[in-house]
Amino acid sequence: MKTNPALRLARHALVLLAVFKINAASAQISTNAQLSLAQTNGSTMSLNISNSGDQVWVVQSSSNLTTWTTVESVKVFNGTYHRIYTNGAKGNLFYRAFYDSMQQTIAAATTNALSLPNTNYNYASPSLPASFSVNPILAEDNTPGNDATTDAGATLGRVLFYDKRLSTNQTISCASCHVQANGFSDPRQFSIGYNGSLGTRNARWYQRKKFFWDERAATLEDQTLAPIQNPIEMGMTLGALTNRLAAEPYYTNLFAAAFGSTAITTNRISFALAQFVRSIVSTQSKYDIGVTNNFANFTAEENTGRQIFFGLNGNKATCAICHATDNFVPTTTLNNNGLEFPYVDLGVGGITGVTTQNGLFKVPSLRNIALTAPYMHDGRFTNLAQVVTFYNSGIVSGPNLSPPLIGPGGQPLRLNLTTAQQAALVAFLNTLTDTNLVTDAKLSDPFNYGN
Ligand code: HEC
Ligand code: HEC
Repeated sequence: MKTNPALRLARHALVLLAVFKINAASAQISTNAQLSLAQTNGSTMSLNISNSGDQVWVVQSSSNLTTWTTVESVKVFNGTYHRIYTNGAKGNLFYRAFYDSMQQTIAAATTNALSLPNTNYNYASPSLPASFSVNPILAEDNTPGNDATTDAGATLGRVLFYDKRLSTNQTISCASCHVQANGFSDPRQFSIGYNGSLGTRNARWYQRKKFFWDERAATLEDQTLAPIQNPIEMGMTLGALTNRLAAEPYYTNLFAAAFGSTAITTNRISFALAQFVRSIVSTQSKYDIGVTNNFANFTAEENTGRQIFFGLNGNKATCAICHATDNFVPTTTLNNNGLEFPYVDLGVGGITGVTTQNGLFKVPSLRNIALTAPYMHDGRFTNLAQVVTFYNSGIVSGPNLSPPLIGPGGQPLRLNLTTAQQAALVAFLNTLTDTNLVTDAKLSDPFNYGN
């Protein structure tokens, strides 16, 4: 275990110094424990500890480097600890953090580990727009009879979603790739996979019930176990996972509350995660408000875009044939939207082996689409203007091109929109952003000291 050298930061009104001392009992610290210090502005210091072993770290401050006062002792509950400390009243505070084998007494009780409300948030019956309570959206709800969302079940799912213990080296949680502030998509756009946005999906409403771009997961319950076991994602075995979770007292409580007994099983993990994912629901965008007031809240440009999208006011229906309903997904069809031919990624055909399904993909909902670039299954478009340019003039012919995108004479459809109309279509897509979703506390990281 390396001992970090003392780090002196710029001398303004105060001096911040971190002395990171690793106790002699450091053999107990897992090898990937790391400390980092950064001065965030003139008067605060941010400390990050990455330590998958759940040890207790003692943070102390001093004004003279001789007498040290304990600021706090923290147990690293979720693989990482992040805190911002302010300069003391007298200024010139130094900080140090160290692992002390004598002070490993903080219990991993629910109250220490997690910031959960006394009464669970309401996940079971969220208030939904009236337009969600009638067909076809009602029929699109893929909640299975044996996994109805409960407040306690989705609360457990929320904790699991943010827990880095779900990955083998305890550094990656579902939320590492599905970041709330980015509409539950991955801001590291090209690093791992493309477009895993949950905020655009309203996963609860997809009548075909299947998940991933190529629909390789039969249900959302199945889907949740895929990234946990995927070697390039979380790389965990399910047996190791249940053992690991069983070692945390707060999980015993959460499983009991959710499922009536303390048993921690793979099935229950997948059910709770699916309940939480079904709770990531966007219903308060500018568009949703517009539905209730005949779009009086829209600008003229946004309304022009809406008419193009839905084929109103003399426009030929295009987008809404596939991105249908207020959820912007078709009820039952898979489609090819003419991105390319030959098909580089066979999509659904690659899973089913059916040639007429080559190049077919799940039609994604467009909710929060402005937050979740890049676009398409391979992330080929970096902004919505490029997407609109593609649909306007770039659709490519191919044997499985979906009929709504085939124009006269069997040629790929050309919309021939003016520049202003294309901009209006982008303006309309921007009305689908629901900023409430990206700040909603019930969907946020519940771990104390999480980051
Ligand atoms: C390493 C990054 C990464 C991690 C970790 C990760 N995901 Fe994903 N997720 C993705 C990507 C990329 C996709 C899109 C891939 C696809 O659809 O084929 C995706 C797709 C999904 C989808 C399907 C969306 C749809 O409409 O079909 C769901 C649901 C989902 N993830 C939930 C989870 C859950 C739950 C976890 C934690 C157990 C998790 N993800 C962990 C990257 C990740
Ligand atoms: C024939 C059905 C169909 C029509 C019509 C259609 N789309 Fe799509 N759309 C799809 C499919 C399928 C995908 C996913 C394609 C892929 O990634 O291979 C998609 C993807 C998208 C995406 C990217 C979503 C994401 O999460 O990356 C946007 C944005 C989009 N479409 C907007 C539109 C607009 C705007 C129109 C009208 C001009 C339109 N679509 C018309 C089927 C359609």
